Amino acid sequence: MPDHDSQLASIGFVDGVPLPPPDSRDVALDASEVLAGLTAPQKRLSPKWFYDQRGSELFDEICKLAEYYPTRTELAVMRKHGAELADLVGPRAAVIEFGAGSNTKVRLLLDHLIEPAAYVPVDVSGEYLAQQAEELASDYPGVHVQPVVADFTQPFELPEHPVTPETNLVFFPGSTIGNFTRAQALELLEVMAAEAKPGGGLLIGVDLRKDPAVISAAYNDSRGVTAEFNLNVLARLNRELGATFDLERFRHEAVYDEDQGRIEMRLVSTCAQTVTIASVDVPLEQDEYIITEYSHKYSIDEFRALARRAGFVPARTWVDDDILFSVHYLKVQ
Ligand SMILES: C[S@@+](CC[C@H](N)C(=O)[O-])C[C@H]1O[C@@H](n2cnc3c(N)ncnc32)[C@H](O)[C@@H]1O
Repeated sequence: MPDHDSQLASIGFVDGVPLPPPDSRDVALDASEVLAGLTAPQKRLSPKWFYDQRGSELFDEICKLAEYYPTRTELAVMRKHGAELADLVGPRAAVIEFGAGSNTKVRLLLDHLIEPAAYVPVDVSGEYLAQQAEELASDYPGVHVQPVVADFTQPFELPEHPVTPETNLVFFPGSTIGNFTRAQALELLEVMAAEAKPGGGLLIGVDLRKDPAVISAAYNDSRGVTAEFNLNVLARLNRELGATFDLERFRHEAVYDEDQGRIEMRLVSTCAQTVTIASVDVPLEQDEYIITEYSHKYSIDEFRALARRAGFVPARTWVDDDILFSVHYLKVQ
């Protein structure tokens, strides 16, 4: 992951500055990044490429699955402790959401916060982001909504808004932090601490280490929605880079590594084959796999220690009764 700090613009809120029209295109696939991953000794694709319009819709379906406990558990924790959280955050916050996706969770947050001033959702899935932001803006007329289509692992700029917030609240739900290795997660948390600024904070959802059977079931659902989500990235490469993946020749696999504390999601080649991507031939052996996503799980203490290293002071951690999922409120002093 590149170093963001030098180039990442801080959010600025300036009276009377006209807002630029929001962009609604997806962040385009980067052919050289895709090829570098697919020609490496261990083939890989970044999970950020999952999220075109179809990928975002499939992720929303995953969130409703019986086996996929993170979404409903995180929502329940936020619902239960929303009033306490609002007191900790304070009035007139600007909420900056990294990897926003569906607007369900931010609605719950905005409903609890005291006079929220602005909402800046950042996502690679531009078309979906624009729809979600438009719906939200019409339901929350007092909140300035300004979506930003950007890859948050690269330097990006946040818009100026015609309001003056009292504080910045970075919001990173869904345990998207788990998609990053622990070293990358530290870098990303440092970017978020810089964005929250002294007096601000980060509200982050983090999936917990637990019974491996519960974790495995969440990524191997019986209806095959996660498999469809995983394979959709190949359809996207075919459409946008003219690749020649035959989706029938790959299968979904998600394996939990208890030592590493992470799910490894894979696309396994079911035969020996050669796929062409942007005019480059990529051979795959039978049973060779492409890693498409990690989902790291943390203990509460492990995550708090990481947050401290990134410059945060852990203020509060909430969990559900079954201790499946944690929600942390971290302050910048
Ligand atoms: C696991 S989903 C979580 C969605 C939602 N925040 C939730 O809690 O359910 C990850 C979201 O982050 C977005 N995303 C993933 N990688 C990204 C990146 N590098 N830059 C910007 N957005 C990204 C995806 O498009 C998707 O909406």
